[in-house]
This record gives sequence, C-alpha cells and structure tokens, in this order.
Amino acid sequence: MSEAGGDLTLEAHAKTNLRLRVFGRDASGYHGLETLFLRLELADTVRIREGPPGSGIRLHLERGEEVAPGSVPEGPENLCVRAARAYLEAVRETGTEEAADVPDDLEIELRKRIPAGSGLGGGSADAAAVLRLMNRRAGGALSEERLLRIAGVLGSDVSFGLLPAPAALGWGRGHRLLPLRPPPVRPALAVLPGVGIATEDAYGWLDADREHVAAPALALPPPEELSGWESLAELAANDFEAPVFRRHPEIREARDVAAHGATLALLSGSGDAVVGIYPAADARDRAARTVVEECGFRVVRTRTLSSPAALVADRWPLV
Ligand code: C5P
Repeated sequence: MSEAGGDLTLEAHAKTNLRLRVFGRDASGYHGLETLFLRLELADTVRIREGPPGSGIRLHLERGEEVAPGSVPEGPENLCVRAARAYLEAVRETGTEEAADVPDDLEIELRKRIPAGSGLGGGSADAAAVLRLMNRRAGGALSEERLLRIAGVLGSDVSFGLLPAPAALGWGRGHRLLPLRPPPVRPALAVLPGVGIATEDAYGWLDADREHVAAPALALPPPEELSGWESLAELAANDFEAPVFRRHPEIREARDVAAHGATLALLSGSGDAVVGIYPAADARDRAARTVVEECGFRVVRTRTLSSPAALVADRWPLV
C-alpha cells in the first residue's frame, strides 16, 4: 500500500457504559437504549496493508493473554472483515479517483487485547478502526455521515468507536451520539469472569425478566453535568445487571468486591466484564488483588481516557 495514506495503524480502545438503560424492542427487533459511553485506555491494535493480488480480505490475529483461544472469529464473520467489505462496497459506489485507488486485496493485522464477549466493545472498536483506516487510505473518500451509516449496519457500538470524543451519550440503538466533555482521567479495573455472554442472550434474559428490572429512577441531568465523577457515580446503572447476575451470581460477587474503594463499579454493556473506576491507583490495585484472591478472576488494570471533547463536538454530525 502506498505511503499516501500515512500511518495505517490505529489503537482501537475498549469502552464501558457508565449508564445503560434498555427500553422495549422496536419493529426492527432491536431494543431502544439510553447509554453513557466512556472509552478506556485498554486497546487492540489494528493495521491494514495491501495484500498480494487476488488474495481478497485476510485477517491476521495475534492474541494477547487476556483473550481466550477460539473466542475471536478469524474468518469472514469477523467484524473487521465485515467492516472492510462494507467500506469497499460503499467507496466503489462513489466512482471517484480515490475510490479506484483502494485495493481489493487487504491484509488486516489485529493485535487483540480486549476480551471478546465481555461487553467492552472490542469487536466494534476494531471495526470502527478499519473504517477509519480505509477512509484514510482512500483520502477521505467517504463522508463522516456515510461512515456512520456503515457503522450502524455493522453493530450497535461501532458508531461510538468512530467518534473521536472519549465520552458520549447514546440513544436509539446507540447510534445517535452526543459527545460529552469527559470526566478527569481515573484508574480503572476490568474484571474478566471469562463466562462470555452473547449480546443476543443478554437481551433475551432481560426481556424474560422484565418484571424484575427496576424502572429508571432518575431523569438524566443536562449533558454539562455529566462530566464530574460525583454526578456520574449517582447516575451509574446498568439494566443488564439484574438478569445477568441472576444467571451468574459469581459476576455479582465480582462487582461487589470490585466496588470496595471504588467511585463506581458496574457490569460493562451486556457483560460479562465488570469495570470499576477508582479515585487513585492504590485503591484500584487493592481491589484488583482482592478480586483475584476472592473470585479467582483475571483482571486488567487500565484507566479512563480524556481529551477535550468539546473541540470535536462542533464538527460531529448528529444523526
Ligand atoms: O448490534 P449487535 O450485533 O451487537 O447485536 C447483537 C444482538 O443483540 C442483536 O441481534 C439483537 O438480538 C440484540 N440487540 C438488541 N437491541 C440492541 C442491540 C442488540 O435487541 N439495541
């Protein structure tokens, strides 16, 4: 691949949901959401380069120790490969000169550290990185709106993966995004029970248990109040906790242990990971040791990400 596209490597960061309210299923079969995303430093690395003629789109996976063998599909069903295919299709439609220069043969190198099936949004972040990299290679041939449309088809969290801001409110299926000024960086802990929960199953459990799910207790305050840890700790809630904890009490136990000394500790997305946020690194490290000793689960020490989201909010198209 030519140098014209610049560096074709990106870090694809994990996310967690500090708040996740799930409403009813709509006509498309998907549930409406109200969520607050926050990006973590923990990341996969995605690199693309041109492959040998006729090789098509190929994925090379390098698995970190946090990622269970066989948990990440390496074939055409991998979200990175699906993102590359969707990008190629969309860019060819534009018929521009830049589009003609994008090769059909592509090697995607994926260094995976975010565990699959953990609710940390790794697959979505990887897919978003592929879309970003391919668009960089194509000289920005597709608009942000077009990229967002592709993201929307690929999966619920891919749109947030495309967003430059590290924090955002999400509505609908998580595609309507409002970037937020992120709260100050704090140490974070991802607890990995290793159960692996399929998103579809978690939504099914939530529907089956509807009467056990508490109604939202708080209306969201104005977005400018969502940048302080004090108000975030008050708003922290995840509707998946009740149905997931009912079926996996060991995850509730991990959440309770991780909550010692934490600003907040919550199931991430539809699980199975629990994420704790701490006022200082020593509190995080103490919680990490206790989780390992008492629950026997793996942990990853990380931190939240922060950058001036307000700067990107102005040029981010709301969809
Ligand atoms: O979007 P994603 O591919 O991650 O979703 C996986 C499955 O989770 C969907 O097929 C659907 O059954 C369920 N889902 C849902 N409502 C959402 C997101 C996902 O019911 N907002």
